[in-house]
Formats: sequence, structure tokens, C-alpha cells
Amino acid sequence: MSKRVGLAVSALGLCLMGASLTVSASAIEDKYNTTCFACHGTGAAGAPVAHDAKAWSPRLEKGMDVLVGSVKRGMGAMPPNGLCNDCSDEQFKGLIEFMVQ
Ligand code: HEC
Repeated sequence: MSKRVGLAVSALGLCLMGASLTVSASAIEDKYNTTCFACHGTGAAGAPVAHDAKAWSPRLEKGMDVLVGSVKRGMGAMPPNGLCNDCSDEQFKGLIEFMVQ
């Protein structure tokens, strides 16, 4: 089990290096603060808390495309697009990578 988590985390590191080439980190952080943070900053409504690797590891196992799809459709108490109606898929990916770090 811990091996799998380790793998997910190192795969994530690779994704992050790729993402930083296309989406600037500070732009992502600004978006995060005005959207996802409302719930993921505090765990409101049962949202997995940002930067809590344990809370995110079972979600990460679904794969990034599935996670981006969940945000776009909405999930449980999360509204469609997680309050970011002008985010691109690339930005959702960047936001998720930011939160799982
Ligand atoms: C209104 C509160 C709220 C906001 C705003 C919000 N989320 Fe969420 N999010 C949740 C909740 C609650 C869950 C857990 C849903 C569940 O498991 O039923 C969740 C789950 C997720 C998941 C896991 C999906 C899965 O398939 O397991 C991802 C990824 C995610 N949010 C990303 C984001 C991103 C990116 C943003 C900002 C663009 C965002 N969220 C904004 C409440 C929110």
C-alpha cells in the first residue's frame, strides 16, 4: 500500500514538472485562492483538504483525467467547475496538482 502511494507521489512530481512549463504556478495559486480554497482550504462540506496527502491519495488513484472530470461535472457538495467557470482543463489539472502537494 505505502509503495503504491509512493508511486503516485513520484508520478505526480513528473506531472508537476510538465505542468510548470505551460501554466504559471502563481497564476494557479491566485485561482486556487479565489475558487477551490473556499472548500478545500478548510475541508468544508467534506472536501479533501489541500496539501493533505493522505486525504488525496485514494482520489489520485483514479487518475488525473477522472479527477478533472469530477470537478467539471461537480461531485457531492462540489458545484460543477468547483466555482471556477473560466478554468481550462489545463488549469483544473494545475489546481489539483497544487492541492495534492
Ligand atoms: C463548494 C465547495 C467546493 C469547492 C468550491 C471546490 N470543491 Fe472540490 N470537492 C468538494 C467536496 C465536498 C468534494 C468531495 C466530494 C465527494 O467525495 O462527494 C470535492 C472533491 C474534489 C476532488 C476529488 C474528485 C474525485 O473524483 O474524487 C477534486 C479533484 C476537486 N474537488 C477539485 C476541486 C478544484 C480543482 C476546485 C477549484 C476549481 C474545487 N474542487 C472547488 C467541494 C468543493
